[in-house]
Amino acid sequence: MVLPPAVVDALRCSVCGEPVELADRALRCARRHAFDLAKQGYVNLLHAKVPSGTADTAEMVAARAEFLGAGHYDGLADRLVARVTTSGLVLDAGAGTGYYLARVLAKEPRATGLALDVSALALRRAARAHERLGAAVWNLWEPWPVASGSVSVLLNVFAPRNGAEFHRVLRPGGSLFVVSPRPGHLRELAAVADLLEVDERKEERLDNVLGGRFEPVSKEEYTERLTLSAMDVRRAVMMGPNAHHPERLKRLDDVREPLDVTASFVLQEYRKPPSRP
Ligand SMILES: C[S@@+](CC[C@H](N)C(=O)[O-])C[C@H]1O[C@@H](n2cnc3c(N)ncnc32)[C@H](O)[C@@H]1O
Ligand SMILES: [Zn+2]
Repeated sequence: MVLPPAVVDALRCSVCGEPVELADRALRCARRHAFDLAKQGYVNLLHAKVPSGTADTAEMVAARAEFLGAGHYDGLADRLVARVTTSGLVLDAGAGTGYYLARVLAKEPRATGLALDVSALALRRAARAHERLGAAVWNLWEPWPVASGSVSVLLNVFAPRNGAEFHRVLRPGGSLFVVSPRPGHLRELAAVADLLEVDERKEERLDNVLGGRFEPVSKEEYTERLTLSAMDVRRAVMMGPNAHHPERLKRLDDVREPLDVTASFVLQEYRKPPSRP
């Protein structure tokens, strides 16, 4: 497995910012900084430690992969995929296992995908999710090792938002798709575990992060009832931030029956204004 050429072209050395080339299973810049490709197919560009508690654990990654694999968020994926049209580079910021990015690539035969995530465990799966997908470990809160204006479409699904870097890497006229949970998303899970509070002001903050830099194009709110098996109830809890708090999960062991839950998302599309002559 190698990184697609369009991904190598867009990546930059995370030490000095120079372009990189792929040789002998490593990315190298002209100043001889080198980043080995893992045997699982992703490249780690990080040279600083990530604060603990940031990256998803193996258990969280497995729970997310199994939950998504069961098709519970297919409705969301279909809506997102339907809005994306491109033959260029699609960057998924906080891509996790690459589920949504692989779906976009399956629909767009000439597009290439770049998955960025701080979790190498998640990117092992992402690197296998599609042949035109390349994956790189990176902390989204640091300046990204990605060339300015190299990205045609940016995806951001339940993941951290760095508005300045979104803007820098997108080409003028490029599209940004942001998916967030709405208040009440999976609220029924509160009956079976002591969940962390959902931040009700997220949408307001999103406007602050993106406002001024991007033009809003569309906003779709979408609510669906899902029937989750007892296993999927557990996965739904374990794939989120609650997994970092074992004391909150004790009651989950008592779940034996399927549970009807509400899934509620907002899918927002923005555009980077075309550059003026
Ligand atoms: C809730 S998951 C969503 C993953 C994927 N978009 C999906 O919906 O399946 C959040 C993802 O953001 C990643 N993440 C969290 N903080 C990050 C950071 N500072 N830099 C890069 N990725 C980060 C996590 O590792 C995780 O894969
Ligand atoms: Zn370098």
